[in-house]
Amino acid sequence: MTRIPHETSGEPNPLQVLTLDRLRQRTSMKWRTHPEDVLPLWVAEMDVPLAEPVVRAVTDALHLGDTGYPAGTAYAEALAAFAGKRWGWGGLAVQRTAIVPDVMLGVVEMLKLVTGTGDTVVVNPPVYPPFYMFVEHMDRRVAEAPLGADGRIDLDVLEEAFRQAVAGGRRAAYLLCSPHNPTGTVHTAEELSAVAGLAERYGVRVVADEIHAPLVVGGAGFVPYLSVPGAERGLSLMSASKGWNLPGLKAALAVAGPGAAADLDRMPEEVGHGPSHVAVIAHTAALRDGVTWLDALLAGLDGNRRLLADLLAEHLPAIRYRPGDATYLAWLDCRALGLGDDPADVFLRRGRVALSSGLAFGTGGTGHVRLNLATSKEVLTEAVRRTAAALR
Ligand SMILES: Cc1ncc(COP(=O)(O)O)c(C=O)c1O
Repeated sequence: MTRIPHETSGEPNPLQVLTLDRLRQRTSMKWRTHPEDVLPLWVAEMDVPLAEPVVRAVTDALHLGDTGYPAGTAYAEALAAFAGKRWGWGGLAVQRTAIVPDVMLGVVEMLKLVTGTGDTVVVNPPVYPPFYMFVEHMDRRVAEAPLGADGRIDLDVLEEAFRQAVAGGRRAAYLLCSPHNPTGTVHTAEELSAVAGLAERYGVRVVADEIHAPLVVGGAGFVPYLSVPGAERGLSLMSASKGWNLPGLKAALAVAGPGAAADLDRMPEEVGHGPSHVAVIAHTAALRDGVTWLDALLAGLDGNRRLLADLLAEHLPAIRYRPGDATYLAWLDCRALGLGDDPADVFLRRGRVALSSGLAFGTGGTGHVRLNLATSKEVLTEAVRRTAAALR
């Protein structure tokens, strides 16, 4: 495992700070969708207090009444500095960035820049369900290029999807999820270079959703898509939203490679009216001053993925779990349990534990569930106990 200096930082594990009683006072989707007797480990919200620098920055802004419209490039500058230190990538040019309301709306805007109505967007299922919802809502067609059995991009399958997507001279895009939700796969530099090569060969434009980039817990280092050779015409979406648990503070950054700068320049000005100024302040503080907190979180998540593997081996050995190197999500293959297509429904009804149903993740989701590891060891242990109890 690399770069987890938490043990000497004194920063407590953020996953062990809040009690369940305290968390149940929250009014967000994770805590209000199901009744009180259900343990929620589904939607991607974390059971953590916010990093102190974020709280301070937002509180200062509120005290000052600094609640106007966003201005300036501080968010992009903070991301560029973070990318340089964390990933050794000096290629994030602030002048080739734009603030967008959030990652998914940013994805929509990037896809509008490089495709037209009826064009195809290629995705790698099983994948984050809104990839289907948002793309179809904007009248593009989703084409699936499923991940291989090893959870990695299958380049032959991807090539065939690209070939079909551009047939008849149509424009097409590839919506890459990097790192991958729900498997936690961290794509290697070699894989991403091969993707870039294929995309160039077929004239497919790559839009990389890199929202989970700060959340790499394993030894594999995150490789920004735009940093690989051949990716110059790519577009990326980045945000502090997942890494620091800020989805309620909406703001993200669109980043263009040198060959996509002119495309990003065409993004309509009104898109920049969507993000919240206070959110921009929060995201900037996270990237600039929240690294100690992030490292403590990553150490906690690493502990949780090990704990989950141990708990499953002990209580639910029929469930297959290959811990990914990134995200706080665990993709569980429950097919051997014989619970049918939607085990999440059984676990919810009989075990009172809410996991995400694999069905919405496209091809490869049947018989699977996604579990959110970003909670305390106690909640995680109780969730597995309930899941096992659902089978009795
Ligand atoms: C891959 C991926 N993209 C986008 C999002 C949502 O980001 P945002 O709220 O900024 O649209 C998530 C949330 O979990 C995600 O996992």
